[in-house]
Amino acid sequence: MATSTLGKSGFSRHGSWVEVDLEAFAQNVRSIRASLQDRADLIVVVKSDAYGHGLSRIAARAASEGVSRFAVATPDEAMAVRRAAPEGLILLLGVAVREDVAALIEHKIVPVIVSEAHGQALAAAARELDEALEAHLKFDTGMARLGIPWEQGVDVMARLLEVRGLSVTGLCSHFATVEADHSGTGDIQFARFSQIARRAPPGLFKHLSSSRAFLCSPEWDSDGVRVGIAAYGYGAMDPRFRVQTHPILQWKCRVIQVKSIAADVPVGYYGTHVTQAPTNIAVLGSGYADGYLRTLSDRGDVLIRGRRCRVIGRVSMNWITVDAGPDGDISEGDEAVLIGRQGDETIWADELAKLCRTIPYEILTSIRPTIERRYVV
Ligand SMILES: Cc1ncc(COP(=O)(O)O)c(C=O)c1O
Repeated sequence: MATSTLGKSGFSRHGSWVEVDLEAFAQNVRSIRASLQDRADLIVVVKSDAYGHGLSRIAARAASEGVSRFAVATPDEAMAVRRAAPEGLILLLGVAVREDVAALIEHKIVPVIVSEAHGQALAAAARELDEALEAHLKFDTGMARLGIPWEQGVDVMARLLEVRGLSVTGLCSHFATVEADHSGTGDIQFARFSQIARRAPPGLFKHLSSSRAFLCSPEWDSDGVRVGIAAYGYGAMDPRFRVQTHPILQWKCRVIQVKSIAADVPVGYYGTHVTQAPTNIAVLGSGYADGYLRTLSDRGDVLIRGRRCRVIGRVSMNWITVDAGPDGDISEGDEAVLIGRQGDETIWADELAKLCRTIPYEILTSIRPTIERRYVV
Protein backbone atom coordinates (compact mmCIF):
# COMPACT_ATOMS: atom_id res chain seq x y z
CA MET A 1 0.00 0.00 0.00
CA ALA A 2 2.58 2.53 -1.10
CA THR A 3 0.23 5.51 -1.17
CA SER A 4 -1.24 5.09 2.33
CA THR A 5 -0.71 8.17 4.46
CA LEU A 6 -0.20 8.02 8.19
CA GLY A 7 -3.21 8.62 10.44
CA LYS A 8 -3.17 10.53 13.74
CA SER A 9 -2.12 7.41 15.61
CA GLY A 10 0.97 7.05 13.48
CA PHE A 11 -0.27 3.80 11.96
CA SER A 12 -0.89 3.61 8.26
CA ARG A 13 -4.47 4.52 7.49
CA HIS A 14 -6.72 1.50 7.75
CA GLY A 15 -10.02 3.23 8.28
CA SER A 16 -11.85 6.17 6.81
CA TRP A 17 -11.75 9.89 7.40
CA VAL A 18 -14.06 12.84 6.89
CA GLU A 19 -13.13 16.12 5.23
CA VAL A 20 -15.20 19.20 6.04
CA ASP A 21 -14.77 22.31 3.93
CA LEU A 22 -15.24 25.18 6.37
CA GLU A 23 -14.92 27.81 3.66
CA ALA A 24 -17.80 26.18 1.77
CA PHE A 25 -19.77 26.14 5.04
CA ALA A 26 -19.05 29.85 5.50
CA GLN A 27 -20.27 30.46 1.96
CA ASN A 28 -23.52 28.61 2.72
CA VAL A 29 -23.96 30.69 5.86
CA ARG A 30 -23.29 33.93 3.98
CA SER A 31 -25.85 33.00 1.29
CA ILE A 32 -28.49 32.12 3.87
CA ARG A 33 -27.95 35.31 5.88
CA ALA A 34 -28.02 37.46 2.75
CA SER A 35 -31.38 36.00 1.78
CA LEU A 36 -33.13 36.60 5.12
CA GLN A 37 -35.89 39.10 5.53
CA ASP A 38 -34.66 42.38 7.04
CA ARG A 39 -35.03 41.79 10.75
CA ALA A 40 -34.57 38.02 10.80
CA ASP A 41 -31.51 36.45 12.38
CA LEU A 42 -29.89 33.12 11.53
CA ILE A 43 -29.85 30.49 14.29
CA VAL A 44 -27.42 27.79 13.16
CA VAL A 45 -28.53 24.35 14.37
CA VAL A 46 -25.46 22.42 15.51
CA LYS A 47 -27.04 19.52 17.38
CA SER A 48 -25.78 15.97 16.93
CA ASP A 49 -22.20 17.13 16.46
CA ALA A 50 -23.33 19.64 13.85
CA TYR A 51 -25.04 16.87 11.87
CA GLY A 52 -21.82 14.86 11.92
CA HIS A 53 -19.61 17.74 10.74
CA GLY A 54 -18.02 18.43 14.14
CA LEU A 55 -19.74 20.89 16.46
CA SER A 56 -16.73 22.85 17.73
CA ARG A 57 -15.21 23.77 14.40
CA ILE A 58 -18.59 24.46 12.79
CA ALA A 59 -19.75 26.69 15.66
CA ALA A 60 -16.43 28.55 15.75
CA ARG A 61 -16.51 29.17 12.00
CA ALA A 62 -20.13 30.30 12.12
CA ALA A 63 -19.23 32.72 14.92
CA SER A 64 -16.33 34.08 12.90
CA GLU A 65 -18.82 34.73 10.08
CA GLY A 66 -20.88 36.84 12.47
CA VAL A 67 -23.46 34.24 13.51
CA SER A 68 -24.50 34.93 17.09
CA ARG A 69 -27.28 32.38 17.62
CA PHE A 70 -26.95 28.61 17.91
CA ALA A 71 -29.37 25.78 18.67
CA VAL A 72 -28.52 22.42 20.24
CA ALA A 73 -30.42 19.42 21.62
CA THR A 74 -28.54 18.70 24.87
CA PRO A 75 -26.76 20.63 27.64
CA ASP A 76 -23.47 18.93 26.72
CA GLU A 77 -23.76 20.27 23.20
CA ALA A 78 -24.61 23.69 24.62
CA MET A 79 -21.39 23.66 26.65
CA ALA A 80 -19.40 22.70 23.57
CA VAL A 81 -20.88 25.71 21.75
CA ARG A 82 -20.11 27.93 24.75
CA ARG A 83 -16.43 26.93 24.43
CA ALA A 84 -16.35 27.40 20.66
CA ALA A 85 -18.38 30.61 20.54
CA PRO A 86 -18.01 32.31 23.94
CA GLU A 87 -20.35 35.17 23.03
CA GLY A 88 -22.99 32.98 21.33
CA LEU A 89 -26.66 33.00 22.26
CA ILE A 90 -27.40 29.33 22.81
CA LEU A 91 -30.86 27.84 22.58
CA LEU A 92 -31.42 24.41 24.09
CA LEU A 93 -34.12 22.65 22.04
CA GLY A 94 -34.17 19.57 24.29
CA VAL A 95 -36.03 19.38 27.59
CA ALA A 96 -33.95 20.81 30.44
CA VAL A 97 -34.56 19.42 33.95
CA ARG A 98 -34.37 21.13 37.36
CA GLU A 99 -30.85 19.82 37.96
CA ASP A 100 -29.66 21.65 34.83
CA VAL A 101 -30.84 25.08 35.94
CA ALA A 102 -27.77 26.32 37.83
CA ALA A 103 -25.48 25.52 34.89
CA LEU A 104 -27.93 26.95 32.36
CA ILE A 105 -27.94 30.25 34.25
CA GLU A 106 -24.20 30.26 34.81
CA HIS A 107 -23.41 29.64 31.14
CA LYS A 108 -26.27 31.72 29.73
CA ILE A 109 -27.92 28.80 27.95
CA VAL A 110 -31.56 29.40 27.07
CA PRO A 111 -33.85 26.36 27.24
CA VAL A 112 -37.26 26.02 25.63
CA ILE A 113 -40.23 25.49 27.94
CA VAL A 114 -42.44 22.69 26.67
CA SER A 115 -45.34 22.75 29.15
CA GLU A 116 -46.67 24.82 32.03
CA ALA A 117 -45.44 22.26 34.57
CA HIS A 118 -42.01 22.31 32.93
CA GLY A 119 -41.87 26.10 33.17
CA GLN A 120 -42.97 26.03 36.81
CA ALA A 121 -40.40 23.39 37.72
CA LEU A 122 -37.48 25.25 36.13
CA ALA A 123 -38.67 28.53 37.66
CA ALA A 124 -38.79 26.95 41.12
CA ALA A 125 -35.22 25.70 40.70
CA ALA A 126 -34.11 29.18 39.63
CA ARG A 127 -35.85 30.81 42.62
CA GLU A 128 -33.95 28.51 44.96
CA LEU A 129 -30.81 30.08 43.53
CA ASP A 130 -32.29 33.57 43.81
CA GLU A 131 -32.03 33.84 40.06
CA ALA A 132 -34.26 34.07 37.00
CA LEU A 133 -33.81 31.61 34.16
CA GLU A 134 -34.05 33.03 30.64
CA ALA A 135 -36.23 30.78 28.44
CA HIS A 136 -38.26 30.65 25.24
CA LEU A 137 -41.77 29.20 25.24
CA LYS A 138 -42.24 26.44 22.69
CA PHE A 139 -45.73 25.84 21.30
CA ASP A 140 -46.92 22.67 19.64
CA THR A 141 -48.90 24.08 16.72
CA GLY A 142 -49.43 20.79 14.88
CA MET A 143 -46.33 18.62 15.16
CA ALA A 144 -47.60 16.65 18.17
CA ARG A 145 -44.09 16.54 19.55
CA LEU A 146 -42.56 18.89 22.12
CA GLY A 147 -44.37 22.02 23.20
CA ILE A 148 -47.29 23.68 24.92
CA PRO A 149 -50.47 22.67 23.04
CA TRP A 150 -51.46 25.64 20.89
CA GLU A 151 -55.07 25.56 22.14
CA GLN A 152 -53.80 26.44 25.63
CA GLY A 153 -51.03 28.69 24.33
CA VAL A 154 -52.41 32.11 25.26
CA ASP A 155 -53.42 31.14 28.80
CA VAL A 156 -50.25 29.21 29.61
CA MET A 157 -48.13 32.02 28.18
CA ALA A 158 -49.93 34.59 30.32
CA ARG A 159 -49.27 32.56 33.46
CA LEU A 160 -45.64 31.75 32.66
CA LEU A 161 -44.88 35.38 31.86
CA GLU A 162 -45.82 36.19 35.47
CA VAL A 163 -43.85 33.41 37.15
CA ARG A 164 -40.98 34.59 39.32
CA GLY A 165 -37.77 32.75 38.45
CA LEU A 166 -38.51 32.69 34.73
CA SER A 167 -37.58 35.39 32.24
CA VAL A 168 -39.37 34.66 28.98
CA THR A 169 -37.51 36.29 26.09
CA GLY A 170 -38.77 34.30 23.13
CA LEU A 171 -41.55 32.24 21.57
CA CYS A 172 -41.14 29.42 19.09
CA SER A 173 -42.74 26.52 17.27
CA HIS A 174 -41.69 23.87 14.75
CA PHE A 175 -43.32 22.98 11.43
CA ALA A 176 -44.34 19.39 10.77
CA THR A 177 -44.97 19.41 7.00
CA VAL A 178 -43.77 22.12 4.70
CA GLU A 179 -44.38 21.89 0.96
CA ALA A 180 -43.32 24.47 -1.62
CA ASP A 181 -46.92 24.68 -2.87
CA HIS A 182 -48.21 25.27 0.69
CA SER A 183 -50.12 21.98 0.72
CA GLY A 184 -48.53 21.03 4.08
CA THR A 185 -49.43 22.05 7.62
CA GLY A 186 -47.26 25.19 7.51
CA ASP A 187 -49.98 27.76 6.93
CA ILE A 188 -52.25 26.50 9.68
CA GLN A 189 -49.33 26.14 12.09
CA PHE A 190 -48.14 29.66 11.33
CA ALA A 191 -51.66 30.99 11.88
CA ARG A 192 -51.93 29.18 15.24
CA PHE A 193 -48.55 30.55 16.33
CA SER A 194 -49.38 34.09 15.19
CA GLN A 195 -52.63 33.98 17.12
CA ILE A 196 -50.65 33.31 20.31
CA ALA A 197 -47.81 35.70 19.47
CA ARG A 198 -50.26 38.58 18.93
CA ARG A 199 -51.23 38.28 22.61
CA ALA A 200 -47.61 38.41 23.80
CA PRO A 201 -45.92 41.55 25.09
CA PRO A 202 -43.73 43.28 22.50
CA GLY A 203 -40.04 42.51 22.14
CA LEU A 204 -40.08 38.72 22.42
CA PHE A 205 -37.88 36.90 19.88
CA LYS A 206 -40.06 34.69 17.67
CA HIS A 207 -38.84 31.80 15.54
CA LEU A 208 -40.48 28.86 13.75
CA SER A 209 -38.77 27.96 10.50
CA SER A 210 -36.22 25.21 10.04
CA SER A 211 -34.49 24.70 6.66
CA ARG A 212 -37.43 23.71 4.52
CA ALA A 213 -39.72 26.44 5.79
CA PHE A 214 -36.90 28.96 5.47
CA LEU A 215 -36.32 27.86 1.87
CA CYS A 216 -39.97 27.76 0.82
CA SER A 217 -41.63 30.56 2.78
CA PRO A 218 -39.79 33.82 3.47
CA GLU A 219 -42.99 35.17 5.02
CA TRP A 220 -42.44 32.88 8.01
CA ASP A 221 -38.92 34.18 8.81
CA SER A 222 -40.22 36.10 11.83
CA ASP A 223 -37.30 37.22 14.08
CA GLY A 224 -35.15 34.21 13.32
CA VAL A 225 -34.86 30.93 11.43
CA ARG A 226 -33.34 27.75 12.88
CA VAL A 227 -31.38 26.34 9.96
CA GLY A 228 -29.50 23.05 10.10
CA ILE A 229 -29.42 20.88 7.00
CA ALA A 230 -29.41 23.74 4.46
CA ALA A 231 -26.29 25.18 6.11
CA TYR A 232 -24.64 21.79 5.56
CA GLY A 233 -25.64 21.92 1.90
CA TYR A 234 -28.67 19.66 1.62
CA GLY A 235 -32.27 20.20 0.63
CA ALA A 236 -31.44 23.49 -1.01
CA MET A 237 -30.73 22.50 -4.60
CA ASP A 238 -34.09 23.51 -6.11
CA PRO A 239 -33.54 26.69 -8.16
CA ARG A 240 -37.01 27.90 -7.11
CA PHE A 241 -35.74 28.29 -3.55
CA ARG A 242 -34.52 31.65 -2.32
CA VAL A 243 -31.00 30.32 -1.90
CA GLN A 244 -28.90 27.37 -3.03
CA THR A 245 -26.29 25.80 -0.77
CA HIS A 246 -23.78 23.03 -1.36
CA PRO A 247 -22.56 19.98 0.59
CA ILE A 248 -19.42 20.56 2.63
CA LEU A 249 -18.61 17.07 3.93
CA GLN A 250 -16.72 14.33 2.13
CA TRP A 251 -16.08 10.85 3.49
CA LYS A 252 -13.14 8.87 2.19
CA CYS A 253 -11.18 5.69 2.73
CA ARG A 254 -8.64 3.60 0.88
CA VAL A 255 -8.58 0.49 -1.23
CA ILE A 256 -6.88 -2.07 0.98
CA GLN A 257 -6.87 -5.04 -1.38
CA VAL A 258 -7.55 -5.65 -5.06
CA LYS A 259 -8.11 -9.11 -6.47
CA SER A 260 -9.08 -10.64 -9.80
CA ILE A 261 -12.21 -12.73 -9.71
CA ALA A 262 -13.55 -15.08 -12.35
CA ALA A 263 -17.12 -15.14 -13.63
CA ASP A 264 -19.74 -16.88 -11.51
CA VAL A 265 -18.11 -16.19 -8.15
CA PRO A 266 -20.34 -15.31 -5.19
CA VAL A 267 -19.10 -12.24 -3.30
CA GLY A 268 -19.29 -11.66 0.45
CA TYR A 269 -21.58 -13.00 3.14
CA TYR A 270 -24.20 -15.33 1.67
CA GLY A 271 -22.99 -14.50 -1.85
CA THR A 272 -25.73 -11.96 -2.57
CA HIS A 273 -23.80 -10.88 -5.68
CA VAL A 274 -22.45 -13.35 -8.21
CA THR A 275 -19.99 -12.02 -10.80
CA GLN A 276 -21.33 -12.14 -14.36
CA ALA A 277 -17.90 -11.86 -15.98
CA PRO A 278 -14.28 -11.78 -14.84
CA THR A 279 -13.57 -8.57 -12.93
CA ASN A 280 -11.51 -7.04 -10.14
CA ILE A 281 -12.79 -6.56 -6.66
CA ALA A 282 -11.56 -3.70 -4.53
CA VAL A 283 -11.91 -4.09 -0.77
CA LEU A 284 -12.32 -0.78 1.09
CA GLY A 285 -11.39 -0.05 4.69
CA SER A 286 -14.79 1.01 5.97
CA GLY A 287 -18.02 -0.71 6.90
CA TYR A 288 -21.34 -0.46 8.69
CA ALA A 289 -19.63 -0.01 12.06
CA ASP A 290 -18.36 3.29 10.66
CA GLY A 291 -21.86 4.30 9.62
CA TYR A 292 -21.85 3.15 6.00
CA LEU A 293 -25.33 1.69 6.10
CA ARG A 294 -25.67 -2.00 5.32
CA THR A 295 -28.71 -1.16 3.20
CA LEU A 296 -26.20 0.04 0.60
CA SER A 297 -25.16 -3.59 -0.03
CA ASP A 298 -25.40 -4.30 -3.78
CA ARG A 299 -26.84 -0.79 -4.38
CA GLY A 300 -24.47 2.01 -3.45
CA ASP A 301 -21.65 3.38 -5.57
CA VAL A 302 -18.28 4.69 -4.46
CA LEU A 303 -15.81 6.77 -6.49
CA ILE A 304 -12.36 5.46 -7.29
CA ARG A 305 -10.09 7.06 -9.90
CA GLY A 306 -12.93 9.39 -10.81
CA ARG A 307 -15.45 6.74 -11.72
CA ARG A 308 -18.35 5.02 -10.05
CA CYS A 309 -17.81 1.51 -8.72
CA ARG A 310 -20.82 -0.45 -7.50
CA VAL A 311 -20.84 -1.95 -4.01
CA ILE A 312 -21.20 -5.68 -4.56
CA GLY A 313 -21.98 -8.22 -1.89
CA ARG A 314 -23.02 -7.26 1.61
CA VAL A 315 -21.42 -4.34 3.38
CA SER A 316 -19.66 -5.90 6.35
CA MET A 317 -18.70 -4.43 9.71
CA ASN A 318 -15.32 -3.02 8.68
CA TRP A 319 -15.02 -3.65 4.95
CA ILE A 320 -16.84 -2.97 1.71
CA THR A 321 -16.33 -4.83 -1.58
CA VAL A 322 -16.80 -2.95 -4.84
CA ASP A 323 -16.59 -3.93 -8.49
CA ALA A 324 -13.40 -2.27 -9.72
CA GLY A 325 -14.00 -3.41 -13.30
CA PRO A 326 -11.95 -5.69 -15.55
CA ASP A 327 -9.28 -3.14 -16.59
CA GLY A 328 -7.08 -3.54 -13.53
CA ASP A 329 -6.34 0.18 -13.23
CA ILE A 330 -7.40 0.41 -9.57
CA SER A 331 -4.68 -0.28 -7.02
CA GLU A 332 -4.28 -0.86 -3.34
CA GLY A 333 -3.85 2.51 -1.61
CA ASP A 334 -6.15 4.34 -4.03
CA GLU A 335 -8.49 6.81 -2.43
CA ALA A 336 -12.16 5.79 -2.43
CA VAL A 337 -14.87 8.39 -1.94
CA LEU A 338 -17.94 7.20 -0.06
CA ILE A 339 -19.50 10.67 0.00
CA GLY A 340 -18.07 13.53 -1.98
CA ARG A 341 -16.42 14.40 -5.26
CA GLN A 342 -13.74 12.84 -7.39
CA GLY A 343 -12.98 14.21 -10.83
CA ASP A 344 -16.30 15.07 -12.45
CA GLU A 345 -18.31 12.58 -10.40
CA THR A 346 -20.13 13.23 -7.16
CA ILE A 347 -21.93 11.07 -4.62
CA TRP A 348 -23.71 13.13 -1.98
CA ALA A 349 -25.56 12.03 1.14
CA ASP A 350 -28.96 12.58 -0.49
CA GLU A 351 -28.12 9.95 -3.14
CA LEU A 352 -27.25 7.41 -0.43
CA ALA A 353 -30.34 8.46 1.53
CA LYS A 354 -32.60 7.72 -1.42
CA LEU A 355 -31.07 4.26 -1.83
CA CYS A 356 -31.58 3.59 1.89
CA ARG A 357 -35.07 5.09 1.94
CA THR A 358 -33.99 7.61 4.52
CA ILE A 359 -32.95 11.26 4.66
CA PRO A 360 -29.51 12.87 4.35
CA TYR A 361 -29.71 13.82 8.05
CA GLU A 362 -29.50 10.14 8.98
CA ILE A 363 -26.69 9.39 6.53
CA LEU A 364 -24.61 12.29 7.91
CA THR A 365 -25.26 11.68 11.59
CA SER A 366 -24.58 7.95 11.17
CA ILE A 367 -20.92 8.56 10.33
CA ARG A 368 -19.19 7.40 13.49
CA PRO A 369 -18.20 10.46 15.56
CA THR A 370 -14.75 9.02 16.37
CA ILE A 371 -13.76 8.97 12.69
CA GLU A 372 -11.19 11.68 12.16
CA ARG A 373 -12.61 14.95 10.87
CA ARG A 374 -10.13 17.00 8.82
CA TYR A 375 -10.96 20.59 8.14
CA VAL A 376 -10.26 22.55 5.02
CA VAL A 377 -10.16 26.19 6.18
C1 LIG B 1 -36.80 22.09 16.76
C2 LIG B 1 -35.91 22.06 15.56
N1 LIG B 1 -35.60 23.21 14.95
C3 LIG B 1 -34.79 23.25 13.88
C4 LIG B 1 -34.23 22.11 13.36
C5 LIG B 1 -33.37 22.19 12.15
O1 LIG B 1 -33.94 21.49 11.07
P1 LIG B 1 -33.28 21.49 9.63
O2 LIG B 1 -32.01 20.73 9.76
O3 LIG B 1 -34.27 20.81 8.78
O4 LIG B 1 -33.02 22.91 9.27
C6 LIG B 1 -34.52 20.89 13.96
C7 LIG B 1 -33.93 19.66 13.40
O5 LIG B 1 -34.19 18.55 13.64
C8 LIG B 1 -35.37 20.87 15.09
O6 LIG B 1 -35.70 19.71 15.71
